[in-house]
Amino acid sequence: MTEPTHPAPDHYSAPLNFNNWVADHADRLKPPVGNQQIWPKSDLICTVVGGPNQRTDFHVDPYEEYFHQFKGNASLLIADRGQFERIHLKEGDVFLLPAMVRHSPQRPEHGSLCTVIERSRPKGVIDGFEWYCAHCGTMVAKREVQLESIVEDLPVAFASFYDTPDDQRVCPSCTTVHSGRNWQAWHTMLADRFPQTQF
Ligand SMILES: [Fe+2]
Repeated sequence: MTEPTHPAPDHYSAPLNFNNWVADHADRLKPPVGNQQIWPKSDLICTVVGGPNQRTDFHVDPYEEYFHQFKGNASLLIADRGQFERIHLKEGDVFLLPAMVRHSPQRPEHGSLCTVIERSRPKGVIDGFEWYCAHCGTMVAKREVQLESIVEDLPVAFASFYDTPDDQRVCPSCTTVHSGRNWQAWHTMLADRFPQTQF
């Protein structure tokens, strides 16, 4: 038996009204925070995520993820064996992402809202964050994280890639430099080289 990262609460709290909860946390569901966990220290990590937020990292979750895009539209870029595709999450859609599928959520719309449910990770179950070349699809970098806090652990992993000089973000296959934090440049190249990812 592996012990859970977060102990389950020993009693239940009162049900909450979801619409009221969203209204009460509206300030955190937009930049610069962009997400809020509903029940802290729970085994199921139930989070509401708001836009706008676009990015270049791809997440490798060792478990499934559930998405309910309940306001506005978003998409998931998928990276798979040197190719990419875009899964559109239209308002009202629910989607179950299998474990280990490399995915990069894109939330261009101001005010868009999505419920995301993940499992907490026991010790020894590792998340990955990967960056890919938008020119040829080769993996440029990977970080592995024992995820204990989505809020605290992710910025550290991201900074370890983004805060590197250009010569450490070079594609090993085609030598294109990954644009790092400049997601606009990365998305522009991706749309040019992999037209199936265009909106
Ligand atoms: Fe490349």
